[in-house]
This record gives sequence, structure tokens and C-alpha cells, in this order.
Amino acid sequence: MNILVAYASSHGSTAEVAEFIGKTLTERGLKVTVADVDSVRIISPYDVVILGTAIHAGAWLPQMTDFVTRFQDSLAEKPAYLWVSCIRVLEPHGFQHVLEYYMPDDLMEKLNLQDVTVFPGKLDLQNVDWNERWTLAARYDGATWPSSFDGDFRDWDRIRAWCDKIAEGVSALP
Ligand SMILES: Cc1cc2nc3c(=O)[nH]c(=O)nc-3n(C[C@H](O)[C@H](O)[C@H](O)COP(=O)(O)O)c2cc1C
Repeated sequence: MNILVAYASSHGSTAEVAEFIGKTLTERGLKVTVADVDSVRIISPYDVVILGTAIHAGAWLPQMTDFVTRFQDSLAEKPAYLWVSCIRVLEPHGFQHVLEYYMPDDLMEKLNLQDVTVFPGKLDLQNVDWNERWTLAARYDGATWPSSFDGDFRDWDRIRAWCDKIAEGVSALP
């Protein structure tokens, strides 16, 4: 089973989650390639794709949108897993909110999704420029001021558990 983990990351933390998923699945005996979506040229060699994107202004990063649009024909039948990394999930009912409002139906429909999840991400305001800070302050749709989430909220045990779920699902594929 040949697996592609393709990520869209602005500040690197989603890329680190992708690397962690790649490493964990490799330890489970799977053959995995981890790549930035912008660097992927072909997906036909892969049996399964795992896609992950950070969220900006309530939406997937444009690189992930472009990727799904670009490869929509090859993606149509391929089993796919999807996660998004964000901070809104840290608020009450955040998980449901993210699933409801941050997932674009038109793109989700193009994927043969086996599972979708949301992970708390990492926000490092010292490394967010003023333009992005403005976007965050103006477009964040939570009840809490987004600067309250300045920190690393990635839960590696949860991510590992998702990998176990994927490994199980993949082993059941024909
Ligand atoms: C400019 C900007 C806008 C963001 N907008 C949102 C948002 O609308 N909702 C949300 O939950 N998280 C938002 N975030 C938080 C990021 O999704 C989160 O920090 C993510 O883990 C970043 O991943 P990265 O390090 O791979 O870029 C935003 C972060 C930045 C820098």
C-alpha cells in the first residue's frame, strides 16, 4: 500500500504534523511519502492519500484548494483521509463548528473521504506578520480573542490514534 501524505502549511506546524503521520504510519509497516501539496506532480502511484491543511480566515489554505482542484480526476476514486489544523477547535463545540463551517462542500465532494478530523494547531504570534495578525483579528469567527491561543496545542497522542485508525482502515482495503 503506497500512501501520500500531502500538506498545506503556512507556518510549518501542519507540515510537522504531516511528518509525524508519515513516521507513525511507516512504523506501522506502510510505505509513505510526505510532501508539500505544491511539490506534488503526480498522484497515480499512490493507493491512498492523506491530506492536511492549516486554516486561515475560516478556510483551507489556497494551496490545498488548488491541489484538490488540480487532481480532482485522479482523486475521485482514491480513498482519502483529511485533517485540518486550527485554533477554533479549542473553543466549546469547536470540533462541530469547524466541520460545519470550515469544510468546503464543493471540494469535499471531489474526494473519496474515509474519515475527516480536526486537530488543534499551533499559533506563534511572534512569527505572524502584521498583515496576518490583521486577518486573524478581523476574520477569526470564535468567541475568544485569537491571541488567547498563542501556543502549541498539537496533541500528538490524538494524532497517533488517528494514524492507528487509518492503518486499520487501509489494511481493510482491497
Ligand atoms: C493569518 C492567520 C489566520 C488564521 N485564521 C484562523 C481561523 O480563521 N480559524 C482558526 O481556527 N484558526 C485560524 N488560524 C490558526 C491556524 O490555523 C493554526 O495556527 C494552524 O495550526 C497553523 O498551521 P501552520 O503552522 O501549518 O501554518 C489562523 C492563523 C493565521 C496565522
